[in-house]
Amino acid sequence: MTHSLTLGFLGAGKMASAIAKGFVRAQLLTPDQIVASDLAEPALTAFAAEVGARTAVQNLEVVKTAHVLILAVKPAQVAGVLAEIRSHFTPDHLLISIAAGVTLASLERALGEGARVVRVMPNTPALVGTSASAFAVGRAATAADAALTQKLLSAVGLVFQVKEPLLDGVTGLSGSGPAYVYQFIEALSDGGVAVGLPRDVATQLAAQTVLGAARMVLETGLHPGALKDQVTSPGGTTIQGILALEKGALRGTVMSAVVAATDRARQLGQG
Ligand SMILES: NC(=O)c1ccc[n+]([C@@H]2O[C@H](COP(=O)([O-])OP(=O)(O)OC[C@H]3O[C@@H](n4cnc5c(N)ncnc54)[C@H](OP(=O)(O)O)[C@@H]3O)[C@@H](O)[C@H]2O)c1
Repeated sequence: MTHSLTLGFLGAGKMASAIAKGFVRAQLLTPDQIVASDLAEPALTAFAAEVGARTAVQNLEVVKTAHVLILAVKPAQVAGVLAEIRSHFTPDHLLISIAAGVTLASLERALGEGARVVRVMPNTPALVGTSASAFAVGRAATAADAALTQKLLSAVGLVFQVKEPLLDGVTGLSGSGPAYVYQFIEALSDGGVAVGLPRDVATQLAAQTVLGAARMVLETGLHPGALKDQVTSPGGTTIQGILALEKGALRGTVMSAVVAATDRARQLGQG
């Protein structure tokens, strides 16, 4: 499905280059199947060096070369880029936008009736090939467009297709989630320091513990509660730690964080 594909990035910044590297690393695409444009010369130089792909200063050059386009500029820059490419965007083109909060309706409006568009909400661990993303398809996008998006994003992590209104919840959970987990890792590390561990050892133990626990959930398929039960022996140490977390309302607090960030994403989407 991808061996004859040419993929164009509009915007060659951090996310574009991380995603493109993931495609090449996963052997989904070769560097000569990728082309990227950007206004910023340093971004183009870095993209070319990191991905080994062709670059162009003009967005239109990318639109003429590639039929599948990944829109990877900042949300405030989206309108300008779409106005620039609109007259060259044909029914053969598919636009996959990763711009946070930019709705399918606004992408479709900007590109014209019948434009095939997909909206993705990735998260920053895409930068290390471990993103958690979700996407929603526009009115004219086909089942093959959804399948291609799924295949491409799977190269840089986990991906789910959802209805567009659920993307606000995805933003509140996995979009904002890395920040919550960084706080949790920092707190674990602080706890380690409080009981006498050196800071660097404590931080690495904390991060590796989060990584290992996450892999246990994903790879065993067991319910997180069942995994917790497996490590809480009667009268043992872990259940005392759990008791302290429950007294501090850890789970209710984390749930409230997801709900609050989702509400904010909804507000921003309406604005
Ligand atoms: N970073 C994340 O974790 C994350 C997570 C989820 C979604 N996203 C989304 O991913 C998108 C890209 O984020 P990023 O962090 O990769 O941003 P970035 O590093 O700033 O990359 C965007 C690039 O596009 C360039 N650009 C600006 N206007 C342009 C134009 N008219 N034509 C072509 N290129 C243009 C920018 O150049 P200048 O620097 O000169 O403006 C910059 O090099 C954003 O929409 C963001 O919402 C990011």
